Amino acid sequence: MRIRIMIAAIAACLPLLTHAADAPAPAQKPWLDSSLNPDQRAKLAVQAMTQEEKLSWVFAWFGNDFGPKKKTPAALAQSAGYIPGTARLGIPALFETDAGLGVASQAGPQVRERTQLPSGLATASTWDTKLAYAGGAMIGAEARASGFNVMLAGGVNLLRDARNGRNFEYAGEDPLLAGTMVGQTVKGIESNHIVSTVKHYAMNDQETGRFVVDSRIDKAAMRMSDLLAMQLALEGSDAGSVMCSYNRVNGVYACENDYLLNEVLKKDWGFKGFVMSDWGATHSTEMAANNGLDQESGHEFDKMDYFGPALAEAVKAGRVPQARLDDMVTRIMYAMFAKGVVEHPVREGGAIDFAAHGAVSRQDAEDGMVLLKNDRNVLPLAKTVRTIAIIGGHADVGVLSGGGSSQVYPVGGMAVKGLEPKIWPGPVVYHPSSPLRAIQAQAPNAKIVFDDGTDPARAARVAKSADVALVFATQWVGEANDAVSLALPDKQDALIDAVAAANNSTVVVLENGSPVAMPWLNKTPAVLEAWYPGTSGGEAIARVLFGAVNPSGHLPATFPASEQQLPRPKLDGDRKNEEKAFAVDYSEGAAIGYKWFDLKGLKPLFPFGHGMSYTTFSYAGLGAKVQDGKLHVRFKVTNTGKLAGKAVPQVYVSPLAAKWEAPKRLAGWDKVALQPGESKEVEVTVEPRVLGMFDESAKTWNIAKGQYKLMLAKDAAGVDAASVTVDLPAQVLDVRGRAR
Ligand code: BGC
Repeated sequence: MRIRIMIAAIAACLPLLTHAADAPAPAQKPWLDSSLNPDQRAKLAVQAMTQEEKLSWVFAWFGNDFGPKKKTPAALAQSAGYIPGTARLGIPALFETDAGLGVASQAGPQVRERTQLPSGLATASTWDTKLAYAGGAMIGAEARASGFNVMLAGGVNLLRDARNGRNFEYAGEDPLLAGTMVGQTVKGIESNHIVSTVKHYAMNDQETGRFVVDSRIDKAAMRMSDLLAMQLALEGSDAGSVMCSYNRVNGVYACENDYLLNEVLKKDWGFKGFVMSDWGATHSTEMAANNGLDQESGHEFDKMDYFGPALAEAVKAGRVPQARLDDMVTRIMYAMFAKGVVEHPVREGGAIDFAAHGAVSRQDAEDGMVLLKNDRNVLPLAKTVRTIAIIGGHADVGVLSGGGSSQVYPVGGMAVKGLEPKIWPGPVVYHPSSPLRAIQAQAPNAKIVFDDGTDPARAARVAKSADVALVFATQWVGEANDAVSLALPDKQDALIDAVAAANNSTVVVLENGSPVAMPWLNKTPAVLEAWYPGTSGGEAIARVLFGAVNPSGHLPATFPASEQQLPRPKLDGDRKNEEKAFAVDYSEGAAIGYKWFDLKGLKPLFPFGHGMSYTTFSYAGLGAKVQDGKLHVRFKVTNTGKLAGKAVPQVYVSPLAAKWEAPKRLAGWDKVALQPGESKEVEVTVEPRVLGMFDESAKTWNIAKGQYKLMLAKDAAGVDAASVTVDLPAQVLDVRGRAR
């Protein structure tokens, strides 16, 4: 070992003969030698640290004032966090920012204005891994240009409850879709030589009572649902960090949970990066350190400085082994070296091409919009339309975004000011991308009348005299703020009823955080799900409404018809008493979303996978074969309509003999762009874990021998384009899904 290091150190010295004298001397700082691998470098760096330096890496600071506690001056203004570097060793500080939709700012007078992607649900609705990557690469570039080298991005909690206020930060209900898409976003972020943080590990599936709730679930069911999504996101991204969540899981806080952190994450999945706590999620010194937490984030939020002097003391007394402290720091160093944080230092004030980034955000929004309904081909609107009534949702000035720590502040300022709540988890932010102006640009000769929608009778009068009425319905939710029900707030159902009664060409455009009920659905011919559409949302909405873009988004979550269809018709917990501990029994296990609806024979409002287009597609020639131990599905997709468009053929699989948590699972998909009349052959390789059941005691994924029905479908509601049955041999996969 020593010889290898010496050779590498000598090799690294060579450039010094010709290069600048201020370059570090690798002979004394061999961890800065990039020809060594990140494991070696991390180890060498930690070996060179004093105990005090080691301890400084596991104790992180909030980047904003916290009550009477002032932020450390070294942190970037109004940021999420800061960890001092070890300048003596040439290792830079860590500067942390939220989140998965762009560079956020903590509250205060000096927010940074940045590009916001559409919501995570919108990106998931694209079913396009390339767009997920491109969005990640874009926001990661803005993080770097803003001086950050850690992005707290990679939210992949499954949508178990449509009322979860943070669903908009995540990627829906299916572990394969969510894990794959978020993995690509994180990979894109980290392509900027910064660390990204897959979160919130694990089972932080509602905001109500998030600090006190105990999420109870069968372990195998968790491995096949929430944990599978995390596992796939980590495999797809090789993320440098994971954030453990606030809640307890099966009785133990996630940030001191030996099973989650040591056993599943680090041992079973082989995660080599570091675990940071959520802000205020550390509850102990010894238990947290010994059970796998590597860094206490935003220590100001915790009851005491658990990884401060208390940890130093615990290590001294041997209650936390020295080797464990070394491992904590080694993991942080590993992530920094592996992602290029050390070689590519960040600096505040970098240039940002907002026009180019706005276009990235716009394409994501356009591909993620889901045309839910389109009777009589009301959409796309003709450019020759004479009069348009635009109603509600502040659609004259902007588009809505979701609240909490992921809030990105718009370039050019907030389009609507003074909305409640003005403070956490607010403010309520509208991006200044006006749907009205963008609609006018699509139909320059049209007369547009705007009504704010506060008076349904007045709005109906405005709608009556127009050729078409566009109602913009909004639902603001956010972190620490679950939706109280599936209903649209502020009497918007009554508004839509009134407008639809006055104008039979009423189109509803939804800007919402997650699925909502639509009691007015049979009165409106068309509904466009625009989600929170991000920085360029107004333009994206207008381009979809007028057919400049053919909609191709598909739902990443089931839209229930009512709360009664949910596993828990009433959300557990008491919003008025967030201190009172309680448990949520996730007895549905891995049967989430469409799986639950299949299992119970329920008919949703809109099924998972649903999404319409202005053209039509046909699927044919379905075949399947096992090759190299993997199941491959092939078929042909044809655009049978008159417009170019993108199809999202979905493959579901159902065991004929074996018993799963639910009748079928999503096995794969593709997103296929086709000109009118064009056909393409598609091959989908099935992720083997999707074919098996997890055995918690053996830690294997077991695929039962027998027949499996593969269904090529347009959504999960069971209207299959075709199906085929394959025989699979019994197969045992290891805990990472590899053939043994
Ligand atoms: C959120 C995290 C976030 C952190 C830092 C917490 O309240 O749960 O998602 O990264 O704050 O802002």
